[in-house]
Amino acid sequence: MNPFLLVTLLASACVAQYGQSLDDLPKIIDNSTATSSTEKYVLPPLPYEYDALEPHISAQIMKLHHQAHHQAYVDNLNKALAELKDIQGKEEMGAKDKLEVLEETIHFNRGGHINHSLFWKGLAPAGSSESSLQGDLERAIVAKWGSADEFSIALFRTILGRVRGSGWGWLVCNVDTQELSFATTRDQDPVSLPQLVILGIDMWEHAYYLQYYNNKQNYLKAIWAVLNWKEADKRYASCLKHSTTSS
Ligand SMILES: [Fe+2]
Repeated sequence: MNPFLLVTLLASACVAQYGQSLDDLPKIIDNSTATSSTEKYVLPPLPYEYDALEPHISAQIMKLHHQAHHQAYVDNLNKALAELKDIQGKEEMGAKDKLEVLEETIHFNRGGHINHSLFWKGLAPAGSSESSLQGDLERAIVAKWGSADEFSIALFRTILGRVRGSGWGWLVCNVDTQELSFATTRDQDPVSLPQLVILGIDMWEHAYYLQYYNNKQNYLKAIWAVLNWKEADKRYASCLKHSTTSS
């Protein structure tokens, strides 16, 4: 693929959504070279301590997940973007193959960075003011699924039934119809418009295996206790607002 076309496609894929695009993620300016500056993506800090979600999600998992796994997505994304910039305009042997690998690398690590950034903000300590279903989102969930319990049963059934191997489970809102629904994505594929993420659950083994081994059901029950419903309601309000202003 032509390098310019690839950059254009990547940019167009970063659609402006509230907190849900690469454009919204924190970057630093690297002024290490005298002649040019380069923007780099950075690992966002967790909005709570590593042990804040215990006993539901251990500090060991949170620290490893954030500092090792998410950091790796950020580092690999920056590295691939730098390599892409480096080969732009160059016509060298194997450039097409290199571009195709870079495209896949950027897609994967970009998704990992977006998905995890949404995931951290979507969690909160159990028993906190954020951890109870609230607002317009609560009313919408009860209207569609009958109760929070029925909603959780349907969500878990969808995730356990559809995510095979590594992937993500989502509650999404369609900005065109305002409809709430479940979705799943494979690997680090992100959710894309017209869907907005309301809740995201990481179903990669690195998210639960150290504490729950192969018991995904118990992991989902633990995540349920630490969901940040205040953040979820805020995202739902953004979806409703988007629909209203664009109609
Ligand atoms: Fe993860």
